[in-house]
Amino acid sequence: MDRPRITIFDTTLRDGEQSPGCSMNVQEKVRLAQRLDRLGVDVIEAGFPIASDGDFEAVQRIAATVRRPIIAGLARACKGDVDRAWQALQGAAHPRIHVFLATSDIHLQYKLRITREQCLGQAREAVAHAKSLCADVEFSPEDATRTDVGFLCQVVEAVIAAGATTVNIPDTVGYSMPEEYGQLIRTLREKVTGIEKVTISTHCHNDLGLAVANSLAGVQQGARQVECTINGIGERAGNASLEEIVMAMRVRVDRYPYENGVASEHLFAASQMLAEITRVPVQPNKAITGRNAFAHEAGIHQDGMLKNPLTYEIMTPQSVGVPDSRLVLGKHSGRHALALRCEQLGHQFERRELDEIYRRFVVLADRIKKVQDGHLLELIHDVVEGNASNGSSVSSTGKKFPPATASLPLPRAAAAAANSGDAQVAGSAGQATVKIPFSDHHVEQEDYLWGV
Ligand code: KIV
Ligand code: ZN
Repeated sequence: MDRPRITIFDTTLRDGEQSPGCSMNVQEKVRLAQRLDRLGVDVIEAGFPIASDGDFEAVQRIAATVRRPIIAGLARACKGDVDRAWQALQGAAHPRIHVFLATSDIHLQYKLRITREQCLGQAREAVAHAKSLCADVEFSPEDATRTDVGFLCQVVEAVIAAGATTVNIPDTVGYSMPEEYGQLIRTLREKVTGIEKVTISTHCHNDLGLAVANSLAGVQQGARQVECTINGIGERAGNASLEEIVMAMRVRVDRYPYENGVASEHLFAASQMLAEITRVPVQPNKAITGRNAFAHEAGIHQDGMLKNPLTYEIMTPQSVGVPDSRLVLGKHSGRHALALRCEQLGHQFERRELDEIYRRFVVLADRIKKVQDGHLLELIHDVVEGNASNGSSVSSTGKKFPPATASLPLPRAAAAAANSGDAQVAGSAGQATVKIPFSDHHVEQEDYLWGV
């Protein structure tokens, strides 16, 4: 039976980048966009072109270099913003203009100082203008979940008539509860003329920790696009986390029988790349990509894991791309092993860059014997930034390389041995069985990132 397909709309480079400490330069945004492309997201919201020249350039460069996914540029509901977004998107293979306008009375009264009538007219006019430029137009009524439902239906109906192809329903302040958010999507589907012609999208913020639950509730009521970010970064408490949405739909396919195009084994690399670029580490207990997501410390848990990983694991580390730490990187390692580990950490290099990384790697390995992921990330960072190798154990960022050995909370190696190197792990929902090699490398790596 065909399952409905969910469009994964990644807004790490726009909403995510708006969060404190997460800003990125143009080059970093392009690198991350290439990584998102490999991950398989359907839409990349590359920025808000009117916001700054840097944002404009990032959207322009991503549009020119990342050709498979749709590239979206954000615009307020006014001609100047829409024109600027369209200008930035000129080189895109699949451009989308994303227009937004607040619709809640609180925003209309205190922020925009316009009436509902004016809001309706402005939304209609901006979408019609965007449509005259670009076939693919998304509209977001900002603060939709605190908007009078009757008025929201009116606005949504008007923008569909004006040419919107996707209607996004933002829970801008993370106020909604899952049943409520699901009900809102259901109401729109029941009440709005023309709604069947467009894709309904979710966009949930995490102020009450419900962004993922709300997004999934929206999907269950007929939304077919989910807006989310890597590591759940975003304004305030963040956006719905892409990796959590994807894995919830994969592990609990019995409850969420939907398809998406994300290659889950690339999730960890994308998460690592974002953490490395922004220097904002992933919280240790973060679902899917945190360092403890696959660590088992309690004796009872360790015992269960040794007997059968099914006791305490509902997905394998490998299924989200957590690399196999049994591949030890030392002075005898070759270029191929080094390239593979770089790739698992989210970096792909041209031959010349890899040569330089390898050269520095051999010098380091000679000195510290075992090169851990933290060392490698630091070294990669130096090469990418073009910093000279000074032969000391202090990197250009001023960080001392961490000790070469570390003890791990769970003897995964023991678990692996007990399972003759591999283990069969299946989700409780009975999805495909996956062979996993155990690994726990990221404990050390993130201790390093956390400055332990
Ligand atoms: O949270 C929000 O309302 C937004 C819109 C611009 C889509 O990010
Ligand atoms: Zn948002």
